[in-house]
Amino acid sequence: MFNEKNLIKRMGLIVMLVACGFVFLGQPNPAQTEEKAPDYVEKAKYDAEKARADAEKAMAEAEMAMERAERAMEKAEQARLEAKQEKAKAIEKMVEAHRYPEDIAMTVPDSGTTAIFSHKKHTEREHLRCIECHPKVFIMKVGKNVVKKGQLTMAEMKKGKYCGNCHNGHKAFSVSDIATCQRCHPKRQ
Ligand code: HEC
Ligand code: HEC
Ligand code: HEC
Repeated sequence: MFNEKNLIKRMGLIVMLVACGFVFLGQPNPAQTEEKAPDYVEKAKYDAEKARADAEKAMAEAEMAMERAERAMEKAEQARLEAKQEKAKAIEKMVEAHRYPEDIAMTVPDSGTTAIFSHKKHTEREHLRCIECHPKVFIMKVGKNVVKKGQLTMAEMKKGKYCGNCHNGHKAFSVSDIATCQRCHPKRQ
C-alpha cells in the first residue's frame, strides 16, 4: 500500500485541506462585521455633524463681526456729520459776530484809485465761506496782500489771482469787463 502514487495522493489531500483551512480562516467573522459597521457610520455621521456645527458657529461669528463693523461705521459717519455741523456753526458764529471789517477801502498809493471790498456782501449775501478767501487768496490782514508798492494790480487779477480768482466772468463779474470797473471802483469815472 505504501507506494509513490499513494504518497502523492495523500500529500495532495493535505495540501487541499490546509488550503481550505486558510480560505475558511480568511473569511471575516460575520458576527464581528455586523458589530463594526454601525460604528463607522456613526463616526462619519458624528464628524459630519461636528463639521456642520463648526461651520455654523464660524458663520454666526462672522455675521456678528460684520454687525459690529457696521455699527462702528455708522458711529464714525455720525461723528463726521456732527463735526461738519460744528464747523458750519463755528463759521456761522463768526459771520453773525461780524468778526471782519465791513467795507474795506483798498486804496492804491499815489493815485485816486480805490477798490471797495465788502465782507458782508461776500459772506452773508453770497454765502462764501471764510476759507474760500483766507488764507489762500487773501492773507487775513488789511494791506498785507501786495503785488507792488503796497498795492495789488489788475494785471495779476486778470491772471486769476486775488479778486480775479472769482471775478473772471464765470463765478462773478469779470475784472476785464470795462462795463463793470465801477462796481469795484465806485469813485472812478
Ligand atoms: C471773497 C473773499 C473774502 C471772504 C469770503 C472773506 N474775506 Fe476776509 N478779507 C478779504 C479781503 C480782500 C481782505 C482785505 C485784504 C487786504 O486789505 O489786503 C480781508 C480781510 C480780513 C481781515 C483783516 C482785517 C484787518 O483789519 O486787518 C479779517 C479779520 C477777515 N478778513 C476776516 C474774515 C472772516 C472771519 C471771514 C468769513 C466770515 C472772511 N474774512 C471772509 C476777503 C475775504
Ligand atoms: C472785482 C473787483 C475789481 C474790478 C471788477 C476791477 N478792479 Fe481795478 N482794482 C481792484 C483792486 C482790489 C485793486 C487793488 C487795490 C489796492 O491794492 O489797493 C485794483 C486796482 C486797480 C488799478 C491800480 C493798479 C493797477 O493795476 O494799475 C487800476 C488802474 C484799476 N484797478 C483799474 C480797473 C479798471 C479799468 C477796471 C475795469 C476794466 C477794473 N479796475 C476792474 C479791483 C477791481
Ligand atoms: C471767492 C470768490 C470771490 C472773490 C475772491 C472776490 N469776490 Fe467779489 N463777488 C463774488 C461773488 C460770487 C459775487 C456775486 C456775483 C456777482 O455779482 O457777479 C461778488 C460780488 C462782488 C461785488 C458786487 C457787490 C454788489 O453790490 O452787488 C463787488 C463790488 C465785489 N464782488 C468786489 C470784490 C473785490 C474788490 C474783490 C477782491 C478784493 C472780490 N470781490 C473778490 C465772489 C468773489
